[in-house]
Amino acid sequence: MNFPQRTSWCGEVRPSHVGQEITLNGWAHRVRDLGGLLFVDLRDRTGLVQLMIDPETLGKPDLRTESSLSVTGRVERRDPQNVNSKLPTGEVEVTVTGLTVLNECAVLPFPVSDEDQMIKVNEELRVKYRYLDIRRPSMYKKIAIRAAAVRKLRAYLDDRGFVEVETPLFTKSTPEGARDYLVPYRLEPGHFYALPQSPQQYKQLLMVAGVERYYQIAKCFRDEAQRADRQPEFTQLDLEMSYVSQEDVLTLIEGLTLSVFNELIQEFGLEKDPVEAFQRITYDESMRLYGNDKPDLRFGLEIFDVSDSVKDSGFGVFKSTVESGGCVRGVRFPGGAKLSRKEVTELEDFCKGFGAKGMASLYVEDTEHEGSHPLGDGRFVRGAMSKFLSAEEINALITAGDAVVGDLLCFVADKWPVTCEALSRLRLLIGDRCGLRDRRKFKFAFVLDFPLVEWNEDEQRWDPTHHPFTSPKVDDLVYLDTDPARIRADCYDVVCNGVEWASGSIRIHRPDVQARIFKLIGVTDEEQQSRFGHILEAFTYGAPPHGGIAPGIDRMIMFLTDDENIREVIAFPKLGGGYDPMMDAPSDISKQQWEEMGLQVRPPAK
Ligand code: AMO
Ligand code: AMP
Repeated sequence: MNFPQRTSWCGEVRPSHVGQEITLNGWAHRVRDLGGLLFVDLRDRTGLVQLMIDPETLGKPDLRTESSLSVTGRVERRDPQNVNSKLPTGEVEVTVTGLTVLNECAVLPFPVSDEDQMIKVNEELRVKYRYLDIRRPSMYKKIAIRAAAVRKLRAYLDDRGFVEVETPLFTKSTPEGARDYLVPYRLEPGHFYALPQSPQQYKQLLMVAGVERYYQIAKCFRDEAQRADRQPEFTQLDLEMSYVSQEDVLTLIEGLTLSVFNELIQEFGLEKDPVEAFQRITYDESMRLYGNDKPDLRFGLEIFDVSDSVKDSGFGVFKSTVESGGCVRGVRFPGGAKLSRKEVTELEDFCKGFGAKGMASLYVEDTEHEGSHPLGDGRFVRGAMSKFLSAEEINALITAGDAVVGDLLCFVADKWPVTCEALSRLRLLIGDRCGLRDRRKFKFAFVLDFPLVEWNEDEQRWDPTHHPFTSPKVDDLVYLDTDPARIRADCYDVVCNGVEWASGSIRIHRPDVQARIFKLIGVTDEEQQSRFGHILEAFTYGAPPHGGIAPGIDRMIMFLTDDENIREVIAFPKLGGGYDPMMDAPSDISKQQWEEMGLQVRPPAK
């Protein structure tokens, strides 16, 4: 089709173009019929410009919103009272001299041009018509940020001698803790490729191959429970380096993060403070102070332990919990003493939702209420447990919690992991309520010294905390046969604002050590050969010491765009259960394909 092609972009028309004749291509964003004249906002990916159509000269075109147009016209300055200061093109308009409707738009499934209405549109509908959803400037901006992020990541690594290598998608299972997606193999029915959960083994094999510094923008596939920050198909910046120490990998990833994030914040005018040097925290410290291994460090309110102070207390739950090997830990709610009884019960229910048996609270106040206990210095405390505790014990709790008048102290008594789970969640809730999770701030941290393995109670075996290729700390290898829980790993995470962003480790490069670790995590000799024989063999050919890391690119964009839902930063995301409503995938295959693949669905068991 021949049509007048653009000489300018809609969003770039300025007063300096006044008097020029230009041609624009784009969509009719909004059409207003003001009696005599027709005003149309024309939109392309750069923005909007106002068109003025005089039906007396052009006839009255039937313009539907989101129809695709080619427009020629003269740029004119708007009268001062008509200037729109919200639009970069708001000082001008284009008086149309020629107009072609390239393609009419059918009735839309949702109002593409109305951001206020779009907030209310059901997500499934938006994903089904994603090609319309992405016409919206707010969605297109995310795609542009993502493209710029990937470009900058590549440039940073290219400049430092990294080589991008593509690794296969049809491969063998690489465990990262999820189920595999499998692809049936036509030539040998009953045989399957696995789609990679990560390129972990290939990148290690590339180190054996002497590539030294590898990276890849890698698609990964994991069949696991979906969450707001998880997709079955997602993208990592996967990288690996030879002859390096943990410190080398950390230095690289910190430098890359500072450089790329700060450039993106500037380039896109994002409302974010610059990223600063990373904090460092050990896994043990993180669990102790924040109750999880991905602390939100934008605020304090650390969890504190009062087990020692209450081990002989008259409050039965505390005493018996400590006696049976559990602990009593708490978190402070600044200003929480003003909460109603009902609101505190809601906090308690919240803790119960994460496994706690209850939540005991202590109000610290300077006025007396029903049931208050005076501390003798003008302060009073109340709460179900206060009458069972001595003044000394109460003072110890207040000191441990750093509480001031007006605060509420919340305590959970249980086994260590239960207190971690409940109090880490409660701490974040309090952070939200007190407005302490500042959206402008990025608080990056390295979490270091993870345990190598953790006990799997259900399966009665040791599981790798990260993955089976992670190197134990050499000094801790003495515990391999006696106390595996004590072995720490050369393993590190990068966390940001309470979300895990990247994981990595120094790898095992010696076949004997790899075999011992496989044995520890219950991979039999036979399985080692059938599942991992290739990599064990590769390690026998002078494999260099190596290590790497993999930040999630989707999560990176979520941080930058302030999205809490990972689907918002993916052009074509999957919905719950991995469904794609636009393509209607997954879907049935033809009879012939069933036969060719040698596949059959077993009838469900009765
Ligand atoms: P890991 O499994 O921790 O490590 O993944 C690294 C990072 O990838 C991102 N990520 C995800 N993003 C979206 N949806 C998912 N389902 C998903 N799963 C993971 C996270 C995470 O921090 N091979 C190792 C890396 C290494 O050791 O070098 C690995 O894959 O941001
Ligand atoms: P009860 O003894 O069940 O009447 O509980 C008294 C108070 O102690 C309530 O506020 C409970 O929520 C709280 N409580 C009960 N069990 C625990 C626990 N394991 N840890 C902290 N508080 C608890």
